[in-house]
Amino acid sequence: MRYALIGCGRISPNHIAAARNNGLELVGICDVDELAMMDKVRKFDLWDVARYADYHDLLEHERPELVAVCTESGRHAAIALDCIDAGCNLIVEKPIALSLADADEIIRRAEERGVKVCANHQNRFNKSVQKIREAVDRGRFGRMFYGTAHIRWCRDWEYYHRAPWRGTWEQDGGALMNQCIHNIDLLRWMMGGEVETVMGMTDRLDHDYIEAEDLGIAIVRFRNGSYGIIEGTTDVYPRNLEETLYLFGDKGTVKAGGTSVNVIEEWRFSDQLDDPTQVVREFGENPPNVYGFGHTPLYADVIDAIRTDRDPYVDARAGRDALELVLAIYKSQKTGLPVHLPMEDFSTLDMAGEFA
Ligand SMILES: NC(=O)c1ccc[n+]([C@@H]2O[C@H](COP(=O)([O-])OP(=O)(O)OC[C@H]3O[C@@H](n4cnc5c(N)ncnc54)[C@H](O)[C@@H]3O)[C@@H](O)[C@H]2O)c1
Repeated sequence: MRYALIGCGRISPNHIAAARNNGLELVGICDVDELAMMDKVRKFDLWDVARYADYHDLLEHERPELVAVCTESGRHAAIALDCIDAGCNLIVEKPIALSLADADEIIRRAEERGVKVCANHQNRFNKSVQKIREAVDRGRFGRMFYGTAHIRWCRDWEYYHRAPWRGTWEQDGGALMNQCIHNIDLLRWMMGGEVETVMGMTDRLDHDYIEAEDLGIAIVRFRNGSYGIIEGTTDVYPRNLEETLYLFGDKGTVKAGGTSVNVIEEWRFSDQLDDPTQVVREFGENPPNVYGFGHTPLYADVIDAIRTDRDPYVDARAGRDALELVLAIYKSQKTGLPVHLPMEDFSTLDMAGEFA
């Protein structure tokens, strides 16, 4: 399958590796920054792959069937829509867009054009997360009471200054939109998906050189009567501490932890269908960085979705749902009021000046 990559920055090595692991034919790469592109050419020996500074030229000359969009977040929607119009299937890095209107337009036009769009929430493929999801699907938790998502990470001056788009309202958003959206996606997905009300507060406590929040706290009420608690930050001293997901039901308690929910740390079910010690031993991974091992199985799923004409496991609607929950927290911060879903259009740009 002909595959192309747009955006050759920090996350692109995971995409190139996933494409290779799945036997895709890399026909073109694109970056407006020649240095970033050449860095990947050297590291991955891509001397035979066509290089482009303008993705329109890549789409026209290479006609890829599958494209990965790995540019700064504020450019995802415009590039994704152009790729859809060119008939390409897509893997769009998270967040799928920075406004609900853009996410809805991606969904609408992909359906119209008959192409698949996957939102790159690769942690859904963590062994630990897959095991937990299976327990949710089998109803092992009984009545779900509540779940919590904690993201306690560290991002320093150097991280933001290496790519000045980070932490801006126009191109990124803050800790919740960039670093925490994976776990926010997992919490919403595990708790049934349907959100009723969100109350949130965000602040910028320790990074006065970015525009957006570095701390976000929220309470979520789901339509099925259960609750969620979200706490996400990039303020932790002096390095990443943990990313945890807890689920509490009347018949089951689970905790996934590690730096990015890669390990199951607690596994207690009244049905005793499996041995907790064995589950804890078997369903843990220790990846070299917080991005984990999820890109390769996510790519495998998208390729299969294209070949068998089904929705990807993490489709554009899933990307939109995660985005909506982050934007609901933002709106609650901005208005000082609870936000009821479904939400009307909202965008990171509506937060401009919030912490000025
Ligand atoms: N899934 C994950 O765990 C994960 C991890 C990190 C980043 N991300 C996401 O991936 C995206 C990229 O993040 P990053 O850290 O790699 O950023 P980065 O700044 O390192 O890389 C982005 C690259 O896109 C290029 N670019 C910008 N506009 C372009 C255009 N019009 N055409 C071609 N190239 C263009 C930039 O020059 C840059 O090299 C962001 O949306 C981010 O949220 C996801």
